[in-house]
Amino acid sequence: MAQEDIRSVQGTEDVLPGQWTYWRRLYEAAARLFERYGYGRIRTPVFEDTHLFEKGTGETTEIVQKQMYTIPAGDGESITLCPEGTPSVIRAYLEANLHKQEAFQKLYYVGPMFRHERPQKGRLRQFHQLGVEAIGSDSPLLDAETILLAVSVFREVGLKDFDVFLNSIGCSKCRPQFREEVRAILHGREDELCEDCRSRLERNVLRVLDCKNEKCREVVAVLSVMTDYLCDECAAHYDQVRSGLDRAGISYEEDPRLVRGLDYYTRTVYEVKHRWLGARDAICGGGRYDDLVELLGGPPLPCVGFAIGAESTLLAMESEQGPPPEIAPSVAVYVVSFDDAAQADCFELVQALRDGGLSADMDYEGRSAKSQMRVANRRRAQFCVLIGPDEVERGEVTVKDMVDGRQWTVPKDRAVAWLVRLLDGTHR
Ligand code: HAM
Repeated sequence: MAQEDIRSVQGTEDVLPGQWTYWRRLYEAAARLFERYGYGRIRTPVFEDTHLFEKGTGETTEIVQKQMYTIPAGDGESITLCPEGTPSVIRAYLEANLHKQEAFQKLYYVGPMFRHERPQKGRLRQFHQLGVEAIGSDSPLLDAETILLAVSVFREVGLKDFDVFLNSIGCSKCRPQFREEVRAILHGREDELCEDCRSRLERNVLRVLDCKNEKCREVVAVLSVMTDYLCDECAAHYDQVRSGLDRAGISYEEDPRLVRGLDYYTRTVYEVKHRWLGARDAICGGGRYDDLVELLGGPPLPCVGFAIGAESTLLAMESEQGPPPEIAPSVAVYVVSFDDAAQADCFELVQALRDGGLSADMDYEGRSAKSQMRVANRRRAQFCVLIGPDEVERGEVTVKDMVDGRQWTVPKDRAVAWLVRLLDGTHR
């Protein structure tokens, strides 16, 4: 295959140096806030035993049915590239017996996820999530706190035009009744539903409720909503989540059709959507999942969490703030050589400056001194060190302040200390 034919795989993206500004802002803001809210970082493998997702994410979900990258791994084993992080975190928590040390744990993760979806703007086959899971408490205040945390991350990266949508989908006690009701009403109206929803009737009928298709929306518009069917405990829990959000000053919209596409949810579900993103507008999805730990072989421990979609959030940031500024990596000191003979001295000095804790660089392309100075300007160097034949002979260097043009001649072996002090501002 000719080299020009090798391209990135559909649904994957490169992030080039000039695009890192927003990524870094998001990753740093999320890690800072996650830790401020008491979450400890966890890293789990990029692939897991396929059963984990079949069981955890759920057999009836579109993710498990259609979107997993599954690979035979010999000896009848099968592994899958993680389509989401929640089952992995719970598996790791149980495998490390964290519940025996202290049942209540707050864990966060950042990493790539893989879903074989139809690629489009904001929907990728490899994407990245920043997620939190609070394990071991059914306090509704914790549900509210996770929403507050997601909102804080979005605010921290400068987003304004997003909304929180909230619903409760009840528990294993009250949901079956609602499910049967919906199934009974939709029975006989199959022809009015889209193909996906027709198959959902059997597998996961409640997903019909949040189908985006216009005709499906019309059909479900007449249905009653899950919140009418909540048992007393679930209704009380939902009330307390709402009052927690009110107390925290977080505005939200109740969306009784919000179901979410993962099987494990119980009670609270929520999404954060950005107003300018069109069809794929969710920048965060989450909710409570009180049965998953037990389903995966652990004790009954209620949990709540969310995942922020990094690429979707980046699109939201670009839509509100414009494209990220393309900034060449800056350097504090650029070392300029006036001829080939000075290059070795430049090389030595650059290393010494770096060892001294300064960012420093030099030319490796045989440019003229004039064009090296241009590169120094482009890299926003604060100081240049100029080394020519005279300097080499005298064991000196010339230091030039790129802001005001002042120059000093300094013994070569004192140049690092001199520049460290200049950059501290003690010489200005
Ligand atoms: P999710 O709603 O499937 O939830 O994904 C969370 C976010 O990841 C979405 O809101 C979206 O921004 C992003 N995302 C999902 N699929 C793609 C894709 N194909 N391309 C780009 N971005 C995507 C979960 O994954 C749950 N594990 C969240 C959770 C944690 N619930 C409880 N704890």
